[in-house]
Amino acid sequence: MRALTIIPTYNEAESLPGTLQRLRAAVPESDVLVVDDNSPDGTGVWADAQAAKDDQVFVLHRQIKDGLGGAYIAGFRWGLQREYDVLVEMDADGSHQPEQLPRLLQAVDEADLVIGSRRVPGGKMVNWPWHRKLLSIGGSLYPQILLGLRLTDITAGFRAYRATTIADMDLDAVQSKGYGFQVDMSFRTARLGKRIVEVPITFMEREHGESKMSGNIVTEAFTNVTKWGLAARLEKLQERIGR
Ligand code: GDD
Ligand code: MN
Repeated sequence: MRALTIIPTYNEAESLPGTLQRLRAAVPESDVLVVDDNSPDGTGVWADAQAAKDDQVFVLHRQIKDGLGGAYIAGFRWGLQREYDVLVEMDADGSHQPEQLPRLLQAVDEADLVIGSRRVPGGKMVNWPWHRKLLSIGGSLYPQILLGLRLTDITAGFRAYRATTIADMDLDAVQSKGYGFQVDMSFRTARLGKRIVEVPITFMEREHGESKMSGNIVTEAFTNVTKWGLAARLEKLQERIGR
């Protein structure tokens, strides 16, 4: 199966080189697409130089910083046009270990979406501050309850999608920009009746640069999950009354 690993970047000049080098060593068969939002620190320029040297590395440039969700959607479209079989999501900052990607790729043989989970047996979080852990637990539990998804790590960003999973979605309808994007995509995948599998990963806190997590991103996710949850319930209720 032809895989494309998509790495969204915003100011990751210190982290991307190490991540890319490890990825190319650990999974040489996967092509790589860096989606850079015109990073002021020159990440996109560095990535271009890399792409010029390595014909399995590509770069997609977007003019303004427009969120993780939009960057992935642009990357998915790029990958679908080029007929890859598997589309992988991975952070640039070293939180997702390229050496663990083979686990996800193996599992996607039997699944439509594989999520690298920090909360299944064997999964870990290393050096994450307590407030991020708390936010992550809440951020996963709330959508589990509201959306009725039985997943341990709904917001996780280390994933392997079978390209058909993405092709079957209406990508224009995906509006989430921040981390709610991951929840959004999980919910859409589940609603299509696709098979979602979680495999354990060790999530490492970044060593360089900064997280782009913000209050706005949390609010967006919380508001959307509430909306989607209520809408789904209303739909079910209407079906019951209709009967
Ligand atoms: N192109 C682009 N545009 N890339 C972005 C943007 C953006 O607006 N915002 C973030 N990124 C890139 C970062 O450069 C990094 O490579 C990746 O997306 C993840 O961003 P981080 O800022 O490092 O995220 P995090 O560590 O706070 O959050 C992680 O955990 C969340 C909760 O589980 C990520 O894995 C999220 O996907 C995950 O939802
Ligand atoms: Mn990170």
